Amino acid sequence: MLQRPRRNRKSEVIRQMVQETHVSATNLIFPLFIVEGNNQKTEVSSMPGIFRYSVDNLLREVESCMNLGLKAFDLFPNIDEALKDKYATESHRENSLYLRAISEVKKHFPEACVVTDVAMDPYSSDGHDGIVENGEILNDETLEVLAKMAIAHARAGADIIAPSDMMDGRVGYIREALDKEGFTNVSIMSYTAKYASAFYGPFRDALGSAPKFGDKKSYQMNPANQREALIEARLDEAEGADFLMVKPGLPYLDVIKLLKDSTELPIAAYNVSGEYAMVKAAIQNGWLNEQRAITEVLTSFKRAGATSILTYHAKEVLLNKWL
Ligand code: PBG
Repeated sequence: MLQRPRRNRKSEVIRQMVQETHVSATNLIFPLFIVEGNNQKTEVSSMPGIFRYSVDNLLREVESCMNLGLKAFDLFPNIDEALKDKYATESHRENSLYLRAISEVKKHFPEACVVTDVAMDPYSSDGHDGIVENGEILNDETLEVLAKMAIAHARAGADIIAPSDMMDGRVGYIREALDKEGFTNVSIMSYTAKYASAFYGPFRDALGSAPKFGDKKSYQMNPANQREALIEARLDEAEGADFLMVKPGLPYLDVIKLLKDSTELPIAAYNVSGEYAMVKAAIQNGWLNEQRAITEVLTSFKRAGATSILTYHAKEVLLNKWL
């Protein structure tokens, strides 16, 4: 035999010499859940090891991550039902929980990168990402709310705005609104190919943000479609997105690869709550090796073509020195 691929696998040194993909702390973005109150830290039951933090404890958590070299965070608020309404007004109310959290993190850790989520669902009494009228999710009317939210986040100090709502035209609308207010340096990480997925369940538990009726299939993409992601990518790019995101991650590695090959923008992968829950449950049952399963998952995103990875595993992989 002239070709024996096993020769390149014969020792640890050679295996590492030919290793094509590496994940590092600088590629990771850690999603964090926020809740009202003082000294709160409550575990999300479907996400072992993941907590909702009040702002004081959020700052402690951010500090411990920063010390591990984990410096990018994506914040999500758990909003009291009483504050929700049809128009998600709490999403841009001055001094709201979310806006306070952004500005506190930036005040204490100016070098941290704060990514903020733009969508109505955590604040909507309908639990949808847009304004609902007669059971329909309105597109153009929602854009105005999203723009107000994005400007409020930028004022509070957000580095990157991440619209996760999947309304048509929102990237361009938000870009224009930010620029008009002078926030030309605030980036947009668009949820470009966001699928109507079963894997968001634990996240909706964490926020109490499940839709009150119906599903999100009229705005999030059909999991059976790949080519449609190219339409979304082309639009987001033309509308001024700085990053394109694919979400969920593991069941959509083909979409990550597809976008990687069709754009020059950096690609982000969102390793979502249900993927985290699935891996954790198997580990808790003794069915998977924790370190190997988690590092293999993260490596797969880089191999598929993602540059950045949003993952609930971000802190544990660094704490345990698994990378
Ligand atoms: C809301 C939003 C969702 C996630 C991020 N932003 C859920 C949804 O669309 O229902 C999911 C994240 C996760 O599951 O980890 N716009």
